[in-house]
Amino acid sequence: MRPHHRTLRILGSLLLVAMGVSMTGAAPAQAASPTPLDRVIPAPTSVAPGGSPYRITRGTHIHVDGSREARRVAEYLAAFLRPSTGYRLPVTEHGAGGIRLRLAKGPFGAEGYRLDSGRQGVTLTAAGPAGLFHGVQTLRQLLPAAVEKDTVQPGPWLVAGGTITDSPRYGWRGAMLDVSRHFFTVDQVKRYIDQLALYKINKLHLHLSDDQGWRIAVDSWPRLATYGGSTEVGGGPGGFYTKADYREIVRYAASRYLEVVPEIDMPGHTNAALASYADLNCDGVAPPLYTGTEVGFSSLCVGKEITYDFVDDVIRELAALTPGRYLHIGGDEAHSTSHEDYVKFMDRVQPVVAKYGKTVVGWHQLTGATPAKGALAQYWGLDSTSAEEKARVVKAAQSGTGLILSPADRVYLDMKYTKDTPLGLSWAGYVEVRRSYDWDPGAYLPGVPAGAVRGVEAPMWSETLENSEHIEYMAFPRLPGVAELGWSSGASRDWERYKVRLAAQAERWNALGIGYYRSPQVPWDSAGR
Ligand code: ACM
Repeated sequence: MRPHHRTLRILGSLLLVAMGVSMTGAAPAQAASPTPLDRVIPAPTSVAPGGSPYRITRGTHIHVDGSREARRVAEYLAAFLRPSTGYRLPVTEHGAGGIRLRLAKGPFGAEGYRLDSGRQGVTLTAAGPAGLFHGVQTLRQLLPAAVEKDTVQPGPWLVAGGTITDSPRYGWRGAMLDVSRHFFTVDQVKRYIDQLALYKINKLHLHLSDDQGWRIAVDSWPRLATYGGSTEVGGGPGGFYTKADYREIVRYAASRYLEVVPEIDMPGHTNAALASYADLNCDGVAPPLYTGTEVGFSSLCVGKEITYDFVDDVIRELAALTPGRYLHIGGDEAHSTSHEDYVKFMDRVQPVVAKYGKTVVGWHQLTGATPAKGALAQYWGLDSTSAEEKARVVKAAQSGTGLILSPADRVYLDMKYTKDTPLGLSWAGYVEVRRSYDWDPGAYLPGVPAGAVRGVEAPMWSETLENSEHIEYMAFPRLPGVAELGWSSGASRDWERYKVRLAAQAERWNALGIGYYRSPQVPWDSAGR
């Protein structure tokens, strides 16, 4: 064999390897055929495959129109693609072809988009930047999972040809993180935000106060954070967000098109506040800090005026930090507050939220008082919740209270999957992956008008969860299913098909370093084959 032939052979082999093609016919490291357009979670509204794929190459540019918002999303996309592709991917306002992000009038709504892919390029079109951002998440899922890595990968970076048109079923697609039972740092919250954004979640509800810890600085009542935030379940050091920390979370969430919904839980779940200020207690005696996991033993003193000074100050300062529309006032498990006091308290506190320009959200026990006009109630009942309690929620919905659905035996991400799950609780039962996905928010509470359901939210309570690894094991693989219930039309819900799309996500989680529960209900090993 003459040398230059040998060189050509080697080059040819390298090329084939680079394309993910194996000489021996064994499974390639990375499939060279692109991910089908319908392999996305949440399922898009409509998918029309066809035509040639687009291939991102060293020469690809990301084109934007002149708007600052489109450019910001384009920079996010470029920053995401550069490490694994190793390409420059300049963002430019000139030229054609490549990846294009366009803002244009169209039937997309505030969060929808269209993705057109073909040999010449991929174009995302949306009416607003949130739509472009969600379209970018779809594009991300259409690329090989190795795109998630932070070192250069071989590619090829193919996007299947065709068109996706997509917009959400519900405007509220939330996830809640309990930062009170265990405190999570700003970086841990950001990590979760990035995982939520991948599935088009648009609300981050932060449970900022509870018996075990007060987690947000309040200038007018400084001991709430410095003392009330000084421990957590199990007696660890706890922590709290300074106002700068909280603003950073809000900013980061907004950069991923999530709105932060802060919660101060009242009048129960308030031991950390009561421990911080003796005057807030009816008997004037501050209880000790609490590091256990019981609920229902604490209450603000409904009959004392100082309670309302406290509430006004806290809501004023929190509202000033929060650009979003909503402020959650809790209201659950107020077992140490009489019904009469509960109603009185909510009648006084809801107008304070309105005074500072926010809309009330409360756990569904709020429907046992008089929800303010425009208030939203977050339903966290179970199949076994009493008919009377459900009827109260249904009646409130019929009278105009919007509902966020978080049924605990479906979407509480801290529930164990099975009896063998090492983390989590089981008071609402075991919640395997199918159970968390296979229900219809639109028909969940019979008698609720369709328009009253504003969406779904997956709470993550942290009695047993101490770090990101714990959060991720409980969120994955259930979180993408809740995201799909919030985004995709009810008609597309099909467990048999969904579980295949879900299995295909595992490679992405592996690339992202997300440890997940390998549910036997999901055909992991068939994914993508
Ligand atoms: C709740 O789970 N207590 C809202």
